[in-house]
Amino acid sequence: MTDQFKAFFNNIASQYQPLTRYSVETLDCSLDRFLKYLPSECASVLDLGAGDGYPASRLMAKHPRLHLSLLDLSFEMIKAAQVRFARANPTPRFILADLNDINFEGSSFDGALSCCTLQFVREITAFLQKIRSALLPNGIVCLLFYDPEDLRCQLIHKYFPGLHAIEQLRHYPDNKVCLALKSVNFSIIHTEVMDYHIVYSGAPEYLNFIDSRPFSGFAQMPDEVYRKSFQIFSAIIRKLFPYGSIHSPGRLRLIIARR
Ligand SMILES: C[S@@+](CC[C@H](N)C(=O)[O-])C[C@H]1O[C@@H](n2cnc3c(N)ncnc32)[C@H](O)[C@@H]1O
Repeated sequence: MTDQFKAFFNNIASQYQPLTRYSVETLDCSLDRFLKYLPSECASVLDLGAGDGYPASRLMAKHPRLHLSLLDLSFEMIKAAQVRFARANPTPRFILADLNDINFEGSSFDGALSCCTLQFVREITAFLQKIRSALLPNGIVCLLFYDPEDLRCQLIHKYFPGLHAIEQLRHYPDNKVCLALKSVNFSIIHTEVMDYHIVYSGAPEYLNFIDSRPFSGFAQMPDEVYRKSFQIFSAIIRKLFPYGSIHSPGRLRLIIARR
């Protein structure tokens, strides 16, 4: 599965659009909460599944002296992040690695961030234990992840046949994440529900976007199944939104915990 996701993100890296995952306000608000708990403005922060570096760039815009380490499985995403940070000072460290296989024993991060990447973690407790050993005492972990309620809000989860079953297996419920955090001795200091909307100008724009298969759940659907499902989905969307813009709602969950 990891290889499938790696291939998927390598393929879409050049047209990846972070703001189709959340609104900029949702991200900024989550990052502000995280920064509030970091010990200093030049703290060291590990971004787990950093993608093209967009969330990290928002962090740096707020606190330019942060020491960032950007980790991702996809070489192409890392390349896109390197372009984004070409002029940054201090220059971030870029790490090509699998979230499920991190090992930062003896490392010294003040903070760790996971932004829309928990769905790629296979063993949440083992993952959080690894993060714990990567953090300094009192270090902070910030998890922004898809809430199971998101499966009832997002248009693709509601109306795209076959996708719901795939995504349901990957959305961690917040109580499971909280229990896992406590089981490895993190103290939860903040939880919040983050509702957002993505707006599309109309059905043609939205359907074109969806047909670029931008979400990793689609990578798990055989082409033929995807095609049939897309036709059904298109008919539903055209009927529901014959004209005017489309507001696609979604919901993320924010949990911040201290080592
Ligand atoms: C939905 S994107 C989020 C990117 C970024 N955090 C953001 O919010 O814009 C998920 C990212 O996680 C990376 N990823 C997926 N599985 C991974 C794994 N097992 N280890 C490390 N990174 C992974 C992908 O390559 C991709 O860049």
